[in-house]
Amino acid sequence: LVVNASDVARQQIPPTLFGIFFEEINHAGSGGLWAELVSNRGFEAGGLHAPSNIDPWSIVGNVNVINVSTGLTSCFERNKVALRMEVFCDGSSCPSGGVGIYNPGFWGMNVEQGKTYKVVLHVRSLASINVSVSLTSSDGSQVLATNNLIADASVVNHWTMLGFNLQAIGSNSNSRLQLTTTTKGVIWFDQVSVMPIDTYKGHGFRSDLMEMLVRLKPRFIRFPGGCFVEGEWLRNAFRWKETVGPWQERPGHFGDVWNYWTDDGLGYFEFLQLAEDLGAAPIWVINNGISHRDEVDPTSISPFVQEMLDSIEFARGAPDTTWGSIRAAMGHPEPFDLQYIAIGNEDCGKRNYLANYLKYYYALKGAYPDIQVISNCDGSSTPLDHPADLYDFHVYTSASTLFSMNQKFSTTSRHGPKAFVSEYAVTGVDAGKGSLKAALAEAAFLFGLEKNSDIVAMASYAPLFANINDKTWNPDAIVFNSSNVYGAPSYWMQTFFTESSGATLLDTKFQSNMSTPLVASAISWKNSQGDYVTIRIVNIGDDYVIAHLSIVGLDPTSVQLTGSKTTVLSSSSLMDENSLDYPHKVAPVTDSFVKKVPRWM
Ligand code: AHR
Repeated sequence: LVVNASDVARQQIPPTLFGIFFEEINHAGSGGLWAELVSNRGFEAGGLHAPSNIDPWSIVGNVNVINVSTGLTSCFERNKVALRMEVFCDGSSCPSGGVGIYNPGFWGMNVEQGKTYKVVLHVRSLASINVSVSLTSSDGSQVLATNNLIADASVVNHWTMLGFNLQAIGSNSNSRLQLTTTTKGVIWFDQVSVMPIDTYKGHGFRSDLMEMLVRLKPRFIRFPGGCFVEGEWLRNAFRWKETVGPWQERPGHFGDVWNYWTDDGLGYFEFLQLAEDLGAAPIWVINNGISHRDEVDPTSISPFVQEMLDSIEFARGAPDTTWGSIRAAMGHPEPFDLQYIAIGNEDCGKRNYLANYLKYYYALKGAYPDIQVISNCDGSSTPLDHPADLYDFHVYTSASTLFSMNQKFSTTSRHGPKAFVSEYAVTGVDAGKGSLKAALAEAAFLFGLEKNSDIVAMASYAPLFANINDKTWNPDAIVFNSSNVYGAPSYWMQTFFTESSGATLLDTKFQSNMSTPLVASAISWKNSQGDYVTIRIVNIGDDYVIAHLSIVGLDPTSVQLTGSKTTVLSSSSLMDENSLDYPHKVAPVTDSFVKKVPRWM
């Protein structure tokens, strides 16, 4: 392999080439990155468009001593359902430990000894209350943290918010929250939240999952979907206005594509905050009045277009604007740096896409000419027939096909909008639940994107996250349960590209007639410590290959090999995967370069 590091063979890679795509799929956010431990905290699940239910809340006790029901009695206008708990027993006539309700969170809450959890709940009762609020093991037998909530009738005879911290005296990754009492009477509960206080930057994101994202150094984050944005039906699509403001007042919604309820704690504001915390450019995918099964006609689309304009005012408007003031009240008076909007997801070719798109496009460019607009129509083979700054390109395919797509954008016209490869992954038998083979083919594909990065502006793997208890989509880059997380080989593969964005691409050539499935890419990049050359080679074959490496075009007196390293992502079988039990079966192993290849010098 010859790497040419001379000036003539250099090409600048765009600073935003590699980023991430966060979709609310597989409980990626609700029960995942969003650290809220209570599932269905407002008893609203099902929402406006399906009968509400209290799932997964359940009762402590039995029908002889307790009855729970729901009613539209909440003090919150947009989510009226509250839970009514009627206790029939009193004092010693109650079972020991009392009766009440419990919430197991998302397949068990992770409670860790010594950690503090912030509890907020809303109550109403005509009589004084004495409620134990506890974090316990899944059967209630082990109490990990508890507080007695005692309030006088004069305080709770109207809806009252009560809050306090609980400190855990034990650990259990399959815990639950219990609200129990031994006092006869009726208590209404609503909007019950438990959050660990050690979230990332205090912004509500689960710290261990954030660490996985930080390691990728993403230059952009596309959110919040995917199909999640569209909805199976428009009535269940992501409507950003319902996801901002105080968490207690958000109605939540049932994501009918991936089939679960979300309280929308992770709302539009939190996504913008997430982007800022990661130092990544936010890419906001707006619902364009099109779902999987219904579409708004172009003649009726203007309220949807206005909703998009309002979303930009929310992100960027001054604190005295209508929507900017809501952002400011949420604790972020400075604008967010929103510069990209995607109009819909995978909707090109649908009946109203183009007509609606044009309305969005011109409204956007009229009001915010600097915003980059992303079309859903693929312009990689034939030029788009409509204006756009970028176009989405999605690919889910076999390892051999993606490997051969290394050349995909070589023949794309160099004029017109650039490609945003906003979803790519090897899927199907080659991928299993996340194989090394998939990761290698994806790396080969990314080499091609680097080479064609004059016309490919951005790329992101999909999906990013999966809670192992709801792995609806397979494979996924990062898999977790309540307390543990691992990266699939496709996750680790992306760590080989963390310095690519903004780097200089160097020319690479294999001087061999061997038909080995080898591809390579080399970059030079800088940080405060110096200038570096990184060379990456993918071998997707079954056999070892001995490759001789020459770097030409570097001044040998300025090259220092001490401290150089090799990092290898390999395993005994191409189909090897990681798991919660074996999280590092396929993970990068780093060693000293000089030690491994002494003859190179
Ligand atoms: O990444 C999973 C899904 O694949 C996305 O929601 C959708 O855009 C694509 O079809």
